[in-house]
Amino acid sequence: MKQLKLSILILFSIIFTFSCAPKATLEVPEPYKKGQQYFHKVCSNCHGSDAMGKHTQAPRLIDEEYLANNFSDADITETIMNGINKMPSQKNNVSPDEITEIIKYLRYSQKAAGLEPEEDEPEED
Ligand code: HEC
Repeated sequence: MKQLKLSILILFSIIFTFSCAPKATLEVPEPYKKGQQYFHKVCSNCHGSDAMGKHTQAPRLIDEEYLANNFSDADITETIMNGINKMPSQKNNVSPDEITEIIKYLRYSQKAAGLEPEEDEPEED
């Protein structure tokens, strides 16, 4: 009996761990909150909290490699819709509006992390 209770407990903790996507740790301004929420519902399981990546799985998206000049909004949309290599298509998990919000959130987060495309910005101050 004790053992049965223990296995049920273990089973529930496993289910709990896997059903909880990593949570956002960074506060974002109001216009990006929706995208942040969608991202953490659909993408963060693989791409980690705040899109900072996970060791064994998906790449960090807050990275120069994924700035708009290297990886456009259209590229992101296509990746989400069709998947790529080890990433399965997410088209059944997000609506086009949600994709737009997620991209807005990712672009904001890249900027907030201090990543800027090189050619774009003329020298300031
Ligand atoms: C089931 C896990 C999983 C989910 C969910 C997931 N991804 Fe990915 N994603 C991956 C993996 C793995 C890769 C690396 C693909 C590869 O093997 O090149 C990747 C790659 C990417 C890339 C880079 C593609 C490239 O060509 O370099 C982008 C952008 C991306 N994901 C965005 C997203 C977004 C946005 C979401 C949520 C809508 C999302 N992913 C959901 C696993 C996932």
